[in-house]
Amino acid sequence: MNVAPRMGRLGTESAFEVLARARALERQGREIVHLEIGEPDFDTPAHIKDAAKRALDAGATHYGPSAGLPELREAIAKHVGETRGVPVSPEQVVVTPGAKPIMFFTIMALAGEGDEVIYPNPGFPIYESVINFVGARPVPIPLREESGFGFDLPLFERAVSDRTRLIIINSPENPTGGVLDRGQIERIADVARRRKIPVLADEIYRQFLYEGEFVSILSQPGMHEQTILLDGFSKTYAMTGWRLGYGVMPLALAGHVTRLMVNSASCTASFVQLAGVAALHGDQAPVARMVAEFKRRRDLIVAGLTTLPGVRCPRPRGAFYAFPNITGTGRPSAEVAERLLDEAGVAVLGGTAFGEHGEGYLRLSYANSEANLRKALERMRPVFEGLAAGR
Ligand SMILES: Cc1ncc(COP(=O)(O)O)c(C=O)c1O
Repeated sequence: MNVAPRMGRLGTESAFEVLARARALERQGREIVHLEIGEPDFDTPAHIKDAAKRALDAGATHYGPSAGLPELREAIAKHVGETRGVPVSPEQVVVTPGAKPIMFFTIMALAGEGDEVIYPNPGFPIYESVINFVGARPVPIPLREESGFGFDLPLFERAVSDRTRLIIINSPENPTGGVLDRGQIERIADVARRRKIPVLADEIYRQFLYEGEFVSILSQPGMHEQTILLDGFSKTYAMTGWRLGYGVMPLALAGHVTRLMVNSASCTASFVQLAGVAALHGDQAPVARMVAEFKRRRDLIVAGLTTLPGVRCPRPRGAFYAFPNITGTGRPSAEVAERLLDEAGVAVLGGTAFGEHGEGYLRLSYANSEANLRKALERMRPVFEGLAAGR
């Protein structure tokens, strides 16, 4: 089959590939601890599932408007308005099957041949993949451990050019767990405003914040007209398999993104959207309980990783990933990740799965039970001891 040349520019998300390899090992009888995939191990709260069942019984099984059901767009506008402290209208909201399409659609709508897009590295691999796919030039901004994995601001300011069509930020960040502080957000907003460059703010991990404050660039003066906010239900309400996310964007862009929905998914499943209304209107205690539990697990895994030879682990402030520095082993991160899967039965991702600046790190999702985290730490020790002994 002759595929179009653009397919050669489309990347992937290695978490799904490592998951497939781990599952293949399981079929051969191996027992694997899964720390590769980024999804809460909690079940979707019961009141959300009940709302979906009621919606199915009430006949919410047909096509709906491409930008989303009015009741969900209203609930999202209210929620984002309250949590980011700015007025948001339902017309600014586009609902999508998962939050990922908002990335794809925004980059498709704003960047093309010869344009440049700025994005974090290490960062969610789909940013770079889609930037390449649309023929634009990816301009990575390194996130460095020394600065808490925040944006390297002087480098960022130098990287902005007349061709920059979009700046992508992600806070709390996947894979580092870093959180952009107020000063960094203010400086990024300042540059974006002066140069009139839109910002795609990926805030999917907003609620997974363990210390410090969360600052949304949408709240910055003037940024209402320039921000595309990406958020959703996958992580916050443990709804990864439901596929429900959204973008909040200036009206001028919402029409184009809606047309991309018409041309692709048509609309998001109607009963799933009604479950989303229940999630936003209902009891938020399950979210708080899950985040409190993840904080305990973060402390456990960071403390455990720190005791392994050749490993140093900064304490992530948000999301649910540990990003240990393994440069002490002297080995490339992809090789260490592979050995951990083959020899210890622990599936993790090498930092380079998130870009070249992820070399020297591993990503471990701690959205897993305490028992499994302890088991993973125990099994990883002999591999790191072997590496330290030059084996
Ligand atoms: C940074 C980031 N943004 C967006 C997403 C996509 O979320 P969804 O499952 O809602 O498409 C993920 C999922 O892993 C993510 O890590």
